[in-house]
Amino acid sequence: MSKDLKSYETLSTYSSASSDYAVASEEFWGFISDDTVSQLDLRPGDRVLDFCCGPGPMTIRAAERVGPTGAVEGVDILEEMLDITRRRAHERGLGQVTVRRGDVDNLPDGDGSYDVVNCSLGIYFAQDMARTLAAFWSYVRPGGKLAITTIGRRLFEPVLPVFFEACQAEQPGMGTYLPWIRTEDPEVVRALLDEAGVTDAVVTSSETAMPLRTPGAWWPVVHGSGLRRLEVELGATAEARVRQRCEEWIAEHHVTEINVGAVRAIATKKAVRGTSPAQEGLSAGSNRGENRAQ
Ligand SMILES: C[S@@+](CC[C@H](N)C(=O)[O-])C[C@H]1O[C@@H](n2cnc3c(N)ncnc32)[C@H](O)[C@@H]1O
Repeated sequence: MSKDLKSYETLSTYSSASSDYAVASEEFWGFISDDTVSQLDLRPGDRVLDFCCGPGPMTIRAAERVGPTGAVEGVDILEEMLDITRRRAHERGLGQVTVRRGDVDNLPDGDGSYDVVNCSLGIYFAQDMARTLAAFWSYVRPGGKLAITTIGRRLFEPVLPVFFEACQAEQPGMGTYLPWIRTEDPEVVRALLDEAGVTDAVVTSSETAMPLRTPGAWWPVVHGSGLRRLEVELGATAEARVRQRCEEWIAEHHVTEINVGAVRAIATKKAVRGTSPAQEGLSAGSNRGENRAQ
């Protein structure tokens, strides 16, 4: 594992952030799953596997698309996240959702039976990202899709540099390593997919301006995101000062939105030679009662 990744302490960060992340995932991060779902052409009856599902923004949206004849499995390393996804699916009457604990660093080979395998905002936590991507690919049926979404450059600009500066002022030398910088470059994502044997991926990047309605709206973003590790490290008194510094700066500079960049890769697995699209769907275990033109 990279030394920097080890220093991040992914599990304690997301374990303590789980319920705040769940709120932020509805109010802030959900647009990433909306965008992904809109690009996947999910159909009733499809089978979807959602790695690093967290509180389930993509799991729930995919389940709504595939309907009761489909199936969506959410996989996460943290039980706290799985509990939230399970509860949300139950509240919405989505019996087609199941969740299970799994570690993307230790996945068994897949059976090539899923119509769509997704991982949103999670691949950068893997120790060996190419190996994990190859494992994801093994779960995709011929003709099925792999979708990977990561965070792009200029995240939370213009406020994040001010936050970092305020953290450093409190704790000089404080590490501000954040795992998503590993994949913020679309070319890095493409190279990792190539290394994993995932061919012909379409890699795109986009930037969205997210509203920051008041200066106080910044802190829930810190609280319910991977930035929480820095907040925890600061301790309550320093945290209050950093928060105040950020809010003052946002007010002084009349900041009303922050940037969120995303890098998305979607790859379709090639048909097995000599197999018709109809046979692919059936032989690979798809339970969709129709053929999809590839
Ligand atoms: C930033 S959240 C993303 C959640 C969700 N996919 C979304 O789009 O909002 C990252 C998730 O990855 C999970 N995670 C981190 N390392 C993991 C691992 N090695 N195996 C499985 N899940 C992991 C965390 O528990 C967390 O729920």
